[in-house]
Amino acid sequence: MKPLENIKLRVNSDLHDKLPTKWKRIGNVLIIDLENLADDKKRGIAEIYADELNVKTVIQKRKVSGELRKPEKVDLLYGTKTITEISEYGIKYRLDLSEIMWSPGNTGWRSALAGPEKVIDFYSFDKPRTIIDYFAGIGYFALQMARGYPKAKIIAIDKNPKAIEYLTTNVKENNIENVEIINDDCRNVKLKADVIHLGYIGNTIDFLEHTHSCLNENGIAVFHEAYRNNWLGFKSRSDWGSIPTKFSDLMKIKGFVVEKFERVKFYGPSTSHIIATLRKN
Ligand SMILES: C[S@@+](CC[C@H](N)C(=O)[O-])C[C@H]1O[C@@H](n2cnc3c(N)ncnc32)[C@H](O)[C@@H]1O
Repeated sequence: MKPLENIKLRVNSDLHDKLPTKWKRIGNVLIIDLENLADDKKRGIAEIYADELNVKTVIQKRKVSGELRKPEKVDLLYGTKTITEISEYGIKYRLDLSEIMWSPGNTGWRSALAGPEKVIDFYSFDKPRTIIDYFAGIGYFALQMARGYPKAKIIAIDKNPKAIEYLTTNVKENNIENVEIINDDCRNVKLKADVIHLGYIGNTIDFLEHTHSCLNENGIAVFHEAYRNNWLGFKSRSDWGSIPTKFSDLMKIKGFVVEKFERVKFYGPSTSHIIATLRKN
C-alpha cells in the first residue's frame, strides 16, 4: 500500500481532503504543508506522516527567500531535530534545514562526474587546475567536483557563515583534501580559475562580469538560472535540443559563447531552471 493510503486509514475521514498528497523527504526530515488543518490537529497528523514515512522530524513548508536562500521561520510540527544528513552519489551532506535550503529537484545535477551522462557532459572539463564555486553553500556541487577532479584545487566560496560551517564539516566528513573554503561575497574574491561554477538562481547574470574577469583564457563558466519558457522561445519538448538565440545574444554581450544548454527542471508552471556552458572569448 502507498504511504498516503496507510495515512488515511489512521486519520478521521472528515480530514482526508485536507491531507497533503505531496511532501519532500530530506534525510530524516519531512517538509510538508499542513496549513489547511486546524492548529490542534497538526501535531497528530504530522506524527502519523512521520511514522508512515519513517522520518524523525516534520516541518511546515515555507518559502526560501533572500540572497542567502534561508528558509523563512521554521515551524516544527513534530520532532525536534532539523539537522539532517543526505547521501547522494557517494557524498554525504550534513545541514540544518532550519538555516539552509536543500533543493531535492537538483538531485542528479549535483553529481558532476559521478552521475547521469547528461550531467557528466556539463561537468567534464579539460584538465582544470582551479575550479571556483561562487555559491558553494554546504558543498552541493563543490564536493562532487572535488571528488571528480582530485588533481584540481576547488575554491568554494559562500557569503553565509552558517553554510560555511556545514561546508567545512562536509569536506572533513567526506575526507576531501582539495577544497579551499572562503567565507565572503564571491565578487570580493579576485582569484583566477579555469572553471567558475555559478549554481545560483535569480540574478546570476549580475555575476558574469566578475566571472569573466576571473576566468583564465578560454575558461568555462557553468551557468545556472531560471527563465520563462516564452522568453527562451521554447514551446515543445523538441525545442529543448537547441540553444535559444536570445540567450546566446545576451551571453555574447557579456563576452561568452554558449557551448551547451539544457533544462535542469521545471521551476513553476512556465519557467525552467537551465544550465549552460559558457566559454570566455
Ligand atoms: C543555496 S545555494 C543554491 C542552491 C543549490 N544550487 C542547490 O543545489 O541546492 C545559494 C548559495 O549562494 C550563497 N550566496 C548568495 N549570494 C552570494 C554572493 N554574492 N557571494 C557568495 N555566496 C552567495 C548563499 O549564501 C547560498 O548558500
